[in-house]
Amino acid sequence: MIICKTKSEIQGALAKRRQAGETIAAVPTMGALHEGHLSLIDVANEISDQVVATIFVNPLQFGANEDFGTYPRTVESDLELLKARGCNFAFTPDRNDLFPADFSTKISVAGVGEDHCALSRPQFFDGVATIVTKLLMILSPDVAVFGEKDYQQLAVIKRLVRDLDIATEIVGAPTVRESDGLAMSSRNQYLSVEERNVAPALYKALTAAAEKLHSADHNWSEIRDASIEQLLGAGFSSVDYLHFVDAFSLAHIEKVDRPGRLLAAAWIGKTRLIDNVPVEAA
Ligand code: PAJ
Repeated sequence: MIICKTKSEIQGALAKRRQAGETIAAVPTMGALHEGHLSLIDVANEISDQVVATIFVNPLQFGANEDFGTYPRTVESDLELLKARGCNFAFTPDRNDLFPADFSTKISVAGVGEDHCALSRPQFFDGVATIVTKLLMILSPDVAVFGEKDYQQLAVIKRLVRDLDIATEIVGAPTVRESDGLAMSSRNQYLSVEERNVAPALYKALTAAAEKLHSADHNWSEIRDASIEQLLGAGFSSVDYLHFVDAFSLAHIEKVDRPGRLLAAAWIGKTRLIDNVPVEAA
């Protein structure tokens, strides 16, 4: 695996592969890699000749009171994991190479980038959209793979790529879970042993709610209220939101008359977890 720290190094290295007629898939990450991230490397390897992973903890997507300073940084072991998984290139840029002191541009995606997670993290999707646009401009990959774990993020990225005519195909990959259903996340390591025992209740509540939506006995607002009670009863401290949305537009819906998605964010102590599940059309 070739490790590049600068834009010019990675561009030079990828240009050679492209000249050889090979296709390139990108997998952007913030590091602290787990099996969820590595599954994206597998998907990328299946659909392209060369895989480039990026590791960069993007300051733009963290709010003032969020965990930018304490976000886990484990670059050396991340690089080992990527290499063992058959990743061909790792791009580990410095902040200064990506963001000069007078950096002034912001990519903002209206509609799918509003509501849901944006309600409590107003800067988040602009920060994601801006860094992902930059990475796609730098790497010019044929495809880029993102996890459905961050469902609204995936929708934002698909929309910006379409709107800005960026010639990269965006591929979504399924959420990888622990054996008890908890979606893998770099932030799971913040959980204490007691909190870790509570955490799988989020996926349980979502799958139960998705099932109830298919029975004629309940309407959505009843299901939502019962699910929130269930989460608080299981030990979650608060629920940021639990929304039933159109799987493509992320607009709120109440009936299973089209492909839908349940999206949720909830706090256990100081840790915010997100998850989502599909709701098939009836
Ligand atoms: P990060 O949280 O490191 O996630 C990198 C990629 O891994 C994202 O596409 C995310 O959806 C995916 N991922 C995380 N957990 C997963 C799981 N359990 N199963 C499947 N995929 C999973 O998301 C980001 O970084 C950043 O916002 C980024 C897009 C890199 C921009 O900074």
